[in-house]
Amino acid sequence: MSNLDVEQRVVVLTGAGVSADSGHPTFRGAGGLWEGRRVEELATPAAWAREPALVWRFYQERRQRLVETEPNPAHEALYELEQRLKAAGVGFCLITQNVDNLHGRAGSAPIHIHGELAVLRCEVCGEKVRDLEHLDPEAFVPCPECGHAAMRPDVVWFGEMPYRVEDVFRQVGNATHFLAAGTSGVVYPAAGLLQLARDGGAKTYVNSLDEPENLSRQDEFSPGRAAEILPGLCAAIAEEVGA
Ligand code: OAD
Repeated sequence: MSNLDVEQRVVVLTGAGVSADSGHPTFRGAGGLWEGRRVEELATPAAWAREPALVWRFYQERRQRLVETEPNPAHEALYELEQRLKAAGVGFCLITQNVDNLHGRAGSAPIHIHGELAVLRCEVCGEKVRDLEHLDPEAFVPCPECGHAAMRPDVVWFGEMPYRVEDVFRQVGNATHFLAAGTSGVVYPAAGLLQLARDGGAKTYVNSLDEPENLSRQDEFSPGRAAEILPGLCAAIAEEVGA
């Protein structure tokens, strides 16, 4: 049965704030600079073309962090919500802007619209490999398929198209309940999903530390740390849909 055949469909979008409580810095918070550079200057195809060693070091630090951090109660609450909804025949879809692997390690299988740090991609032959073995910040990883000298992280950079956009728009446009958690609501198209959900008649919930840019009076806003807010909020959503 597809997610769109059931009567109630809960869709969740997560952003950097959900991983903040696991020790991953957010993009626009105090830790937004890396070696004095803005993330928006490093996460681009132009930066990779111009200064591949610098961009690679930046990403290797982030890949290294994946093996040092653990999912937090926010990731766990979202996995539990999914289990509870599935058991009750309610549709569920998790979409994340996060490129870490913390949802996956908590049991979920989100749509990674901005790709994944744990995956490397060859720009020459398109080969993708899941790799957290090669974490040396100075050493590029050659493509095992075609031998190209340096694979790139399979993350979506500024100026590139997010993954599975059509699928995501369909899921969100058909949601009956939509939760946006830990996202500043400034990077499109993800930032437009809250409005898309409202337009489709969904009941909307928002959790974030600060009021996100795209918050409306219609949204039920729960300010605070995701690790503290989501366990209760997810339980409330489950009850709301009768699960
Ligand atoms: P941002 O860093 O822009 O925003 C993080 C949001 O999380 C803010 O609204 C904070 O208030 C909130 N926040 C911080 N700590 C929190 C906590 N412990 N609990 C709950 N909320 C918390 O991150 P995103 O909106 O995810 O794009 O960023 C969107 C995109 O911009 C990223 O996916 C990335 C970035 O550049 C790409 O990589 C393409």
